Amino acid sequence: MKLSVAVLLFSILQYASGQPDSRGFISIDCGIPENSSYQDLTSSIIYVSDHGFISSGENRNISSDYISPSLAQRYYNVRFFLDGTRNCYTLRSLVAGNKYFVRAAFYYANYDGLNKLPVFDLYMGATYWHEVKFRDAGAINWMDIIVVAPADYLQVCLVNKGMGTPFISGLDLRPLKSTLYPEANASQSRVLTNANRFNMGPTDKSVVRYPLDPHDRIWLTYGAIPTWNEASATSVVRNYLTDPYDVPSAVMQNAATPSNSSIINFSWDPSDHSVNISSRYFFVFYFAELQSVASNELRQFDIIVNNSTWNKKPYTPPYLFADSFSGMVQGQAQYDISLVATKNATLPPILNAMEIYLVKLIDEIATDPGDARAMIAIQEAFGVCKNWMGDPCAPKAFAWEGLDCTDPPTGIPRITALNLSSSGLAGPITTSFGDLKALQYLDLSHNNLSGSIPNYLGQLPFLVFLDLSSNDLSGSIPYSLLQKSHNGTLSLRLGNNSNLFGNGTYYGSGPKKMDGALLSAIIIPIVAAIALFVIFIVLLLRTLKEKARRRVADPKDETTLLENREFSYRELKHITNNFNLEIGKGGFGAVFLGYLENGKPVAVKLRSESSSQGGKEFLAEVNGNELKELDVPRFHLSSPHEI
Ligand SMILES: *[C@@H]1O[C@H](CO)[C@@H](O)[C@H](O)[C@H]1NC(C)=O
Ligand SMILES: *[C@@H]1O[C@H](CO)[C@@H](O)[C@H](O)[C@H]1NC(C)=O
Ligand SMILES: *[C@@H]1O[C@H](CO)[C@@H](O)[C@H](O)[C@H]1NC(C)=O
Repeated sequence: MKLSVAVLLFSILQYASGQPDSRGFISIDCGIPENSSYQDLTSSIIYVSDHGFISSGENRNISSDYISPSLAQRYYNVRFFLDGTRNCYTLRSLVAGNKYFVRAAFYYANYDGLNKLPVFDLYMGATYWHEVKFRDAGAINWMDIIVVAPADYLQVCLVNKGMGTPFISGLDLRPLKSTLYPEANASQSRVLTNANRFNMGPTDKSVVRYPLDPHDRIWLTYGAIPTWNEASATSVVRNYLTDPYDVPSAVMQNAATPSNSSIINFSWDPSDHSVNISSRYFFVFYFAELQSVASNELRQFDIIVNNSTWNKKPYTPPYLFADSFSGMVQGQAQYDISLVATKNATLPPILNAMEIYLVKLIDEIATDPGDARAMIAIQEAFGVCKNWMGDPCAPKAFAWEGLDCTDPPTGIPRITALNLSSSGLAGPITTSFGDLKALQYLDLSHNNLSGSIPNYLGQLPFLVFLDLSSNDLSGSIPYSLLQKSHNGTLSLRLGNNSNLFGNGTYYGSGPKKMDGALLSAIIIPIVAAIALFVIFIVLLLRTLKEKARRRVADPKDETTLLENREFSYRELKHITNNFNLEIGKGGFGAVFLGYLENGKPVAVKLRSESSSQGGKEFLAEVNGNELKELDVPRFHLSSPHEI
């Protein structure tokens, strides 16, 4: 009991803290104490502890040798993961189908005192994002990704590949309008990762991020090149309404221009051993004219990437508006970029900013979002440990223990089997099991599950095996399960649950399947019918009372007395606690559990007007042939052992 309270409390806290702020930002400093937060000095964004976003790992401070006055606070400490192959952060309360920009930051700084640079993998959900590797212990490494969320949450996972302990320093999520970065899109299964994002021109080294960039991209100053000059403007550089990249004025307001020539020439090398000939890069070059050009002057140039000219006609940047040229390039070890002034130009080319992304295809299909959400809810409800991290089914190598999933070639992975036997589960069976709609096998045996067996387990359309044995379950067994068990479509194991009753001995011929809507569609008419019956009965009973009294009943047999007693609708309502617990369905209608004044449990059968069987048969079942002449529907009380 204590455990389940703790687990519940934990999941509430997790929910409360694992959410975006009013701007939709999630800003996490991994490794600071639980529930702590602070305001970042440069961005004035509030960073919060990662507690509530992840349930594994430990915190540690970096070595003081690597702390400098300019170091952002989120690099002072890390969360590291000694256990488990895959450890994941869950970013919640997102909108499925919306676009997000996510950044993970890593600063090793000899936090573990081993002075050994780890190498590990980073995943966005089931999609391989990139390898995390360090040049030296004092290098800050960060990776960003632009992704369309397939569900209302995203998971960032660190995977241990036997080359050192994964760790993380910070994690940021920023929402993006879906019109931004159209190259990242779900229908083409494309994400943009590992941006090289450069602010060209400024000679100082200051980084541009939020609030100067409302999307909080980090713009680094491109290393000063001796033959380049800085051009700058104090006026705001605006974005067109349809601008797909929304580069902030702070970045566009300065530009690089050659000091003594008509060409800007540079090359870019991915320096990424994980890329190969098939890796694709997405380049965007940003241009804006920063000076008002006299009528006798002309800035005009061509944009050439690896000998291919991207502009169709000679290009002149617009005055104080952000403009861009973008394209995908592939199969090069080094990319050569040239901006070459045309013959007519009197002014040299300029370049204001540049972004280069690695293009990734989503090759692993994530688990059906409904199934995944149900599994996360089950994990939270019971605090299941095991390797339950990240996407339940994908990638297959990291699939959750105890699960069987359909294979990706057959479409979106669905969970077909769940084995949580002997997993220390305590408390009631959560509704989330009923959300695993593709489930065929469910083994919850040998736990401490209590409460009743929920009806919705019987509504799982493909369930063929259900083992709830050796638990502490009580109450009645849902009719739907018993029926499936009797007709051989379900292998049902319920043994060793001391408080279960009605086990396997009911042979009613109720409706084949009952979902919630159908149930209410039937119950409402039943209640209406009952009301009519009651009026009818009250009238009839008056006239028949005499007759009934005259009939000889053995006064010593209390049971007979009870069974021959007539009950008003109000009494039945009281007996059954407002028809609270339905314990079965018969050909006449629903059967409810009730208790007589003497505590004797009884089953109350209600005759439905829509029943397939008629009033005569109902009476026959109720009273044997005894009251056959009484052609009146009645309520019947019997011991629940009868059903
Ligand atoms: C500019 O370029 C010309 C021709 O390439 C060269 O002769 C001259 O020395 C350069 N001036 C400066 C200041 O670099
Ligand atoms: C579930 O796992 C337990 C222990 O690993 C095993 O004994 C049992 O047979 C499994 N149940 C099913 C249905 O495979
Ligand atoms: C009903 O209970 C008996 C004894 O407790 C048990 O042997 C039997 O397997 C149970 N029936 C089902 C369907 O589990």
